[in-house]
Amino acid sequence: MEAICMTKKHACPTYPHFLHGADYNPEQWIDTKEIWDVDMDLMHKANCNEMTVGIFSWAKLEPKEDQYDFSFLDEIIEKVAANGGKVILATPSGARPHWMADKYPEVLRVGPDGVKEHFRARHNHCFTSPIYREKVQKINRLLAQRYGNHPAVVAWHISNEFGGECYCEKCQNAFRDYLRKKFHNDIGALNRAYWTTFWSHTYDSFDQIEAPSPITETGIHGLNLDWRRFVSQQTTDFIRCEIAPIREFSPHLPITTNMMFEHYGADYHQMAEVLDIASWDSYPEWHNGDDADIAQKTAFWHDLYRSLKQRPFLLMESTPSLVNWKPYNKPKRPGLDVLSSIQAVAHGSDSVQYFQWRKGRGSSEKFHGAVVGHDGTENTRVFQSVKTTGAVLQKIDEIAGTVTNARVAVIFSWENMWALDDCQGYANAGKKYWENVYAYHRVFWENGIDCDVVSPHADLSKYNLVVAPMLYLTDAETVANLKGYVFQGGCLYGTYMLGTVDGNDLCYLGGIPAGELKEVFGIVAEEIDTLYPTERQHAEVKGQCHELVDYCEVIHLNGANALATYLDGYYKGMCAVSEHHYGKGRAIYQACRDSGSLKDTVLRQLLQELDIQGNLAGETLPHGVTAHSRTDGEHTYLFLENYSATEPAELVLPGQMDNLLTGETTDLCHLAPYSFAIYRSK
Ligand code: GAL
Ligand code: ZN
Repeated sequence: MEAICMTKKHACPTYPHFLHGADYNPEQWIDTKEIWDVDMDLMHKANCNEMTVGIFSWAKLEPKEDQYDFSFLDEIIEKVAANGGKVILATPSGARPHWMADKYPEVLRVGPDGVKEHFRARHNHCFTSPIYREKVQKINRLLAQRYGNHPAVVAWHISNEFGGECYCEKCQNAFRDYLRKKFHNDIGALNRAYWTTFWSHTYDSFDQIEAPSPITETGIHGLNLDWRRFVSQQTTDFIRCEIAPIREFSPHLPITTNMMFEHYGADYHQMAEVLDIASWDSYPEWHNGDDADIAQKTAFWHDLYRSLKQRPFLLMESTPSLVNWKPYNKPKRPGLDVLSSIQAVAHGSDSVQYFQWRKGRGSSEKFHGAVVGHDGTENTRVFQSVKTTGAVLQKIDEIAGTVTNARVAVIFSWENMWALDDCQGYANAGKKYWENVYAYHRVFWENGIDCDVVSPHADLSKYNLVVAPMLYLTDAETVANLKGYVFQGGCLYGTYMLGTVDGNDLCYLGGIPAGELKEVFGIVAEEIDTLYPTERQHAEVKGQCHELVDYCEVIHLNGANALATYLDGYYKGMCAVSEHHYGKGRAIYQACRDSGSLKDTVLRQLLQELDIQGNLAGETLPHGVTAHSRTDGEHTYLFLENYSATEPAELVLPGQMDNLLTGETTDLCHLAPYSFAIYRSK
């Protein structure tokens, strides 16, 4: 193994360089093996150094129960190794062989309607089934024994895109056990936490509990929330079960599983705890509207995945051209593929990887983008674009493993999202949680400021500014964390709905925000006005008028001072944004939702006061241009990105810097449309 630089935190310490590769399914070409050799040649030509194999290979690896055949994997791993490449080896549990479903129907999922699935599709096994767990452990053990110390294998990829849930009796029983444990076998405690006196829905015993579904109870919010928590825990427990034999026989290889964009069903903050590396699959819908907007939302998820393990992550999948599953599947325009690949690196990725290496001939993904198309050559625009990205990664290899030192963070919480969605009140047409978290992150992105995305339980002490949008569910641990953060000198920016319900989704009594947060913010909230979609209100900050949408909360100052005032409605003249000094820090409360300019004005002022500058200090970045940085403790690596399809940008660097791609030293940057530049500080 190569020496590891201690000032860096490589996503994959077993390979302290950028990984550039793809999901590879050589088993689909087992009858035309000459293609494997073509692939090796093309891999080299594409400047790729990695292949992710085995993801959906179970039927080839275990064609009959307990009859294993690893020959294709043996051969392909050797070929990749001989080609100078590395392998990320997947466990095959994302899809199972037919024989298993036939012999052991318990591995198949039962839907919320109680109907058991037939053998079909993928990502649809029961997470509880002891047989599935046993089968998975068995094959994982064999894989770990066989390849876990192979010099070309650098990491484990557990299954694929975990998601969904199962409603079979085994899962229902596991849910009941989960609740028995949580409530110490006391059904009275559960009834109190779930407020079940409402509609006479009191439970007499844990045996009566059923997972919420269209044919069962869905009106008990605490139950709904606990079901989501259970599904998260059961998924994580399944991953833990997959990992156990791998750790035993392959202890030095890092482990990941590929996560997703706007994933709803499981709490990734919890799932990340059992993984060594965070990795994700990014498929933005480029060119559908403003690419700057799409880039910023993508950036949010890059930031979240970097923050999950507080170290570089892996971009496990992306398409080099188009996908095949959106309503309209458009190839990326020239330049955008390389730009969006480097975007991941700018945000802390130690890899650019694709789905898929080679387009299959049949089945549902035959038109999905790939490095190698059906023509089978290097002579395509897409192949050349991948090759360019590979060349860039080779040139900037010293950046692999460098870290991001963000001074600001945005809080995002899966539990809060579930509780908000469940909540009947405010605007039932949609709570728009994601949109609003994005809206705050956007202010930092537009100013070229590195930003972490963290859970409400994260250690906040290293941040100068933390924004907690719509943190409706604020459990006791969060209340203590936020209070402690401000008390110790942090600047906390909360919004309407903060601290409304506790960890059981029960409303806080005695006024909101919850408990001591009233002292922290120096306010108390009384009621909230939900605006109709076309309705607008306004607030004023230092003589400037800003448009408000969706929500205006009525708050009373109790020690805080007003930074903004409502201009209309029955709350005209009342406080719309408050500020309060508490302990060594301060707490800002934005009581209303604005359409952009209010938060921008208040946050920009705060950034100035806190002396938080963008990576291009002093520069106002043109629309669609952003700046991000990574560091090894000695050098700063500056990434400038331009997402405009038509407008070039001229930018002044914070001093003379080395352009890592051209080799020149300069303090000026010219960015063509859909392009980027990478610099190293002197
Ligand atoms: C991912 C999945 C891949 C492939 C890809 C297509 O979500 O992990 O196996 O289906 O989508 O975009
Ligand atoms: Zn099940």
